[in-house]
Amino acid sequence: MFHPQGPTLFELAQQALSSTERGYDLLAPKFEYTPFRTPDELLHPVAPFLGEPGSVEAALDLCCGTGATMRMLRPLCRSHVTGIDVSHGMLAEAERLLRGVQGEAEFRFLHQDVLEMTFDAEFEVATCFGALGHILPRDQDQFVDGIRRALVPGGRLVFVTSDMPTALNPMWWVARGFNFAMHVRNAVLAPPFIMFYLLFTLPRAREILLRHGFSLEVKSGVYKRFPTAKLVVASR
Ligand SMILES: C[S@@+](CC[C@H](N)C(=O)[O-])C[C@H]1O[C@@H](n2cnc3c(N)ncnc32)[C@H](O)[C@@H]1O
Repeated sequence: MFHPQGPTLFELAQQALSSTERGYDLLAPKFEYTPFRTPDELLHPVAPFLGEPGSVEAALDLCCGTGATMRMLRPLCRSHVTGIDVSHGMLAEAERLLRGVQGEAEFRFLHQDVLEMTFDAEFEVATCFGALGHILPRDQDQFVDGIRRALVPGGRLVFVTSDMPTALNPMWWVARGFNFAMHVRNAVLAPPFIMFYLLFTLPRAREILLRHGFSLEVKSGVYKRFPTAKLVVASR
């Protein structure tokens, strides 16, 4: 559908009818050939904002999937890059794809729900790309609090989001249509597949992060091809 080696429409439907975890397990072998994998052109410009190579002790990638962000983080880190994900299949793909990637830091893979993290001041950097739609509004405080606890004082959480589009923007309608379909799917079928658009856009993200003691830098114009994308660096 997206790529000759990517999932078919039937496979995508099968995945959407499974739980989040099972859906990603099924998608894992073909995930790299989907638009859901964060493109490198979105990840590469992030590294200079985080520092020089070797300037970070340890970094945490939330919802790491097949490890695209962990690849970008490795040269920056001295000790380890930890990827956390709820899908065994995605973690196995990450482990396979990251073999031989440039850098010295150890890769660690953790099978866990990001809402159940118990890290205590262990990371200087946390990242979350392409996955903020998996955190329901009612869980966002718990999510941000877990990240705050995982970071050392002064540690940074980095992610890309946008402003909330208005109803004049076709994206708003696409997102609302998709979200409506997912609400219907989850109302009639258990377990749910948790994935909704526009959940952590800037006004809401800012409000929650400030409430949890972060200060925010919002960088516009980082991406020429994605003019509405904003890179957020939130410091604990
Ligand atoms: C769209 S993929 C993004 C993967 C990767 N970050 C990227 O940008 O290419 C979303 C990932 O989030 C994971 N995920 C979803 N909900 C999660 C949760 N509550 N805890 C941990 N991982 C989760 C999925 O298993 C999947 O690997």
